[in-house]
Amino acid sequence: MSRYLITSALPYVNGVKHVGNLVGSMLPADVYARFLRMEGEEVLYICATDEHGTPAEVSAMEAGMDVREYCDMMHERQKDIYERFGLSFDYFGRSSSRENALLTQHIYRKLNENGFIEERTIRQIYSLDDGRFLPDRYVIGTCSKCGYTAARGDQCDGCASLLDPEDLIEPRSAISRSTNLEMRESKHLFIRLDLLASEIEKWVDSHSDWPRLTVGVAKKWLTEGLKPRCITRDLSWGIPVPREGFEGKVFYVWFDAPIEYIGATWEWANAGREPDEAGIPSDGSTHDASGGSGERDWKSWWFGASDVYYVQFLAKDNLPFHTVIFPAMLLGTREPWTVASYIKGFNWLTYHGGKFSTSQKRGVFTDRALEIFPADYWRYFLMAIAPESDDSDFTWPMFATIVNKDLAGNFGNFVNRTLKLTASRFGGASGDSGTPALTGVIPAGGQWGAREERLQADVKEALEEYRKCLRQIEFRKGVLALKKLWSLGNLYIDERAPWNLLKTDKDEAAMVLRTCINLVRTFALASSPFIPFTAEKVAQALRFSPEEGTGSMAEIGDLRVLGPGRTFEVPPVLFKRIEEAEIEKLTMEFAGENV
Ligand code: MF3
Ligand code: ZN
Repeated sequence: MSRYLITSALPYVNGVKHVGNLVGSMLPADVYARFLRMEGEEVLYICATDEHGTPAEVSAMEAGMDVREYCDMMHERQKDIYERFGLSFDYFGRSSSRENALLTQHIYRKLNENGFIEERTIRQIYSLDDGRFLPDRYVIGTCSKCGYTAARGDQCDGCASLLDPEDLIEPRSAISRSTNLEMRESKHLFIRLDLLASEIEKWVDSHSDWPRLTVGVAKKWLTEGLKPRCITRDLSWGIPVPREGFEGKVFYVWFDAPIEYIGATWEWANAGREPDEAGIPSDGSTHDASGGSGERDWKSWWFGASDVYYVQFLAKDNLPFHTVIFPAMLLGTREPWTVASYIKGFNWLTYHGGKFSTSQKRGVFTDRALEIFPADYWRYFLMAIAPESDDSDFTWPMFATIVNKDLAGNFGNFVNRTLKLTASRFGGASGDSGTPALTGVIPAGGQWGAREERLQADVKEALEEYRKCLRQIEFRKGVLALKKLWSLGNLYIDERAPWNLLKTDKDEAAMVLRTCINLVRTFALASSPFIPFTAEKVAQALRFSPEEGTGSMAEIGDLRVLGPGRTFEVPPVLFKRIEEAEIEKLTMEFAGENV
């Protein structure tokens, strides 16, 4: 038996993310976590904000705030949005936590003890007016290759060449615009990835089941050869480097960010209590209780854990860090930290053929998205077009087609006509005074026939297919299987036409409607990883607890769980159709500033 540890790439703290970020890591991870919980598995789903680094510092400066206060604010803001999207993190932490600092320093010390850390002196651009070193991309100037005047020191957006700050004509600080720059020498720490390369390669090769995208990126890095990589920065915002001569320096944000997967789990266990450094396991002692806490034992997930299946979700630009660098950091400690069992990478979601752009306000951002449509519309649509095996394109007409056809048509309509028709014919009293909701009673009478037996078999088969897809973490196939399941209901109700049977054979009509109501239950439960809010609404209307009769797909698919005599409510229309005029309006609104 395994337990499932699930993490999604940690979103940078600065700025609200767009829906492309959401579908590239957090949303699929949530669908998977919800699915596994439904299957009765033990799941721990962890995420956090990635808070260190120059972008956070600069954004705080622009907002006129202290960087920690800025991060406090942005963390809360993102957390609130994710909650409203129904992301069911067991814990949403912060990479600036004390837990992460202790762990990061611990992992550094172990790497150092084992000979994987090296000191080097490097030359970097220092801005005298800003009083700080500038990361490459915070140096701007004219591209020496194409003449573009706003090229960055790492790359030119005009001609897409990769640059060094030295390639810029008239370089200046992106922060203050000052041209008062000079090269300065500074001491830094490097992790010897070169010494760990063959181990990493062996580790990657031992996972023949990983997606092609994941293996492809890992192999590319490995064949190009791993070089020592700088893990420190001359900044004040970050985790201090515990080493003589490194006062005033911090770890590079990319060093501490993945460690926060572990850090956030420790935060979860501490539940607000101060972490104790002694809580970090030392060699040999696996789960002692000190620093961990009772039932929430973070170490049992991360240290010496042999029963943990660990799945990471991330967009493809993050793959090198997760397939090569982070595992190298952990393996190099020579301690038994949990490394990924499976790494699911996503391609890019584009917006009407181009990039989502924060600076040009192009595309849909997560806060605005929820003002326009409820979370389930987004969850379902985004997963239906998830850039799983290739890039995929967000367009508003596509959004409308998928919502109208699948959610309003295939699923919503079946629920609505089943419950309305039943309520209007069986016990169809309107609710108690004050509650105008239409209520009904699941009718008795009639006998299951061959058609129902076939339906039952088809439902079980479709569910099995659906389950297989999600077990294999194949979301688009999962959505197809779900649609197939929903269609079985429409096929059945159209064929059996209970509205006609009501005139000729009321018992038979009762049995058909009872079967349809059970289909509604099955559909809601099966769909809940994708559309949890709607599933909950249906469960409330049918007055069953979502836990009732679940634990396996076979039980979810049982069409005789809800028996005669139970009352229910007819819920309001579950999904509204999106009309042509609205699509045009939305297309205009989100086109960005350059159109
Ligand atoms: N913040 C990074 C990004 O958005 C992802 C960090 S993932 C982690 O691209 F593993 F490093 F945490
Ligand atoms: Zn250029």
